[in-house]
Amino acid sequence: MVQVSSLLAVTVALSASVVYAFPFPSSTGTKAVYFQTNKSPNSIVAVNIESGGKIGRATFHATGGVGNAELTLTGPHLPDSLGSQNSVVVYDDYLFNVDAGSDQISLFFIPPQDPTGLIRVGTYNVNGDFPNTVAVRDDVVCVAYAGTRSGVSCASWGPRGIGKFDSLRGFELHQQSPPNTTLSLVSDAFFADNDSLLVVTVRGSSSLPAFVATYPLDRNGQVSTKGNLGVPEGITNSFGAAAVPESSLILVSDPTFGAYTLDLNHPQAPASTINVPGQKAICWAGVTPKSAVGILPDAGTNIITQVNVHSGQVTQQWRSTNGNSGNFDFALSADNKLFALSFNPSDTDVHIASINLSGKFADIDNVAIPGADNHSQGLAIYPSA
Ligand SMILES: *[C@@H]1O[C@H](CO)[C@@H](O)[C@H](O)[C@H]1NC(C)=O
Ligand SMILES: *[C@@H]1O[C@H](CO)[C@@H](O)[C@H](O)[C@H]1NC(C)=O
Ligand SMILES: *[C@@H]1O[C@H](CO)[C@@H](O)[C@H](O)[C@H]1NC(C)=O
Ligand SMILES: *[C@@H]1O[C@H](CO)[C@@H](O)[C@H](O)[C@H]1NC(C)=O
Repeated sequence: MVQVSSLLAVTVALSASVVYAFPFPSSTGTKAVYFQTNKSPNSIVAVNIESGGKIGRATFHATGGVGNAELTLTGPHLPDSLGSQNSVVVYDDYLFNVDAGSDQISLFFIPPQDPTGLIRVGTYNVNGDFPNTVAVRDDVVCVAYAGTRSGVSCASWGPRGIGKFDSLRGFELHQQSPPNTTLSLVSDAFFADNDSLLVVTVRGSSSLPAFVATYPLDRNGQVSTKGNLGVPEGITNSFGAAAVPESSLILVSDPTFGAYTLDLNHPQAPASTINVPGQKAICWAGVTPKSAVGILPDAGTNIITQVNVHSGQVTQQWRSTNGNSGNFDFALSADNKLFALSFNPSDTDVHIASINLSGKFADIDNVAIPGADNHSQGLAIYPSA
């Protein structure tokens, strides 16, 4: 741990000196969007973002691992192959992604002056099956697993790589690998409650209710091996979720009715239930970094819903006219833009859409990415808000 921390300090110092040596025009806007092809072999697609949120050129970077897809009764679950949020995560100048088909995690360095010129640090084995979501905080990385050995485990990391994963905090989901979408599925892992808790959301099945597992961090940032399983009353389908900054609330999507908020100190019932009018499949949730406004895209219809996370009220619903059928993984930038992984009936390529959330929502751009299809999953931006 000590060694990793001092390595982190060295990199911070180095990147600071690089900034002085090459003073680039300062801009707070998003410079790159990343997602994974989730194919065999797996690649990260790095998409250049131009000023104003326009979508630029895409480059492919091998992760060193292999992708995979969950299984439905009729074959691979496409799109939404991993059934998760946060399968690709940017933290400072680093990018993490899961390789669900090879039970690995990959780490890349993001050069600040060339954010699409990713440099792979390494590809590391995990100790669960079908990793589909990653949470990063300081020098800790945790990965949750949706397959046979389901659960979550953590490792320390630094600029030189990711260490050995600790013992699996297992869930009794009776899953298989690849996971069966008829059974309970791990959906998301992230840090919440002002970064004091690791949270894992699990959607339910006919035999198990949905639950939210939380693991406290100790003073040194170590994630407890013992968790609390909160089973919010009346919830069957917890999916992707996001922490409300400076609060013990999380916003959790639920494709059966919309979303709910949960106070992690009182997980036995939702703090509010948000029935979203016209919702088809709200599977991802985000909270704007500055104003803590809840944003819910819908995989089944091209509507973005804005909610007040404190009252649970729907405050705005807006339908994009970019022609996509709905929005999947997404990210929110510090300057109030939304970037989403989308699909469009006009072709089989994945699309990257950008939307202006300042004032009345408005489409900015929508571009097909040839070479990446309905296996694609995850979305993260640089800088990460
Ligand atoms: C976003 O919307 C705001 C408010 O309408 C506007 O001032 C700004 O120019 C828009 N930005 C882009 C990139 O369209
Ligand atoms: C996924 O995309 C492939 C083309 O890459 C297409 O053949 C297939 O029908 C698509 N599957 C679904 C379920 O949309
Ligand atoms: C998934 O589980 C269901 C219910 O147990 C079962 O009927 C189905 O055959 C399983 N699917 C696969 C691909 O194993
Ligand atoms: C959250 O953490 C920050 C940094 O440790 C601290 O300054 C702040 O007071 C905390 N906020 C709450 C609500 O606990």
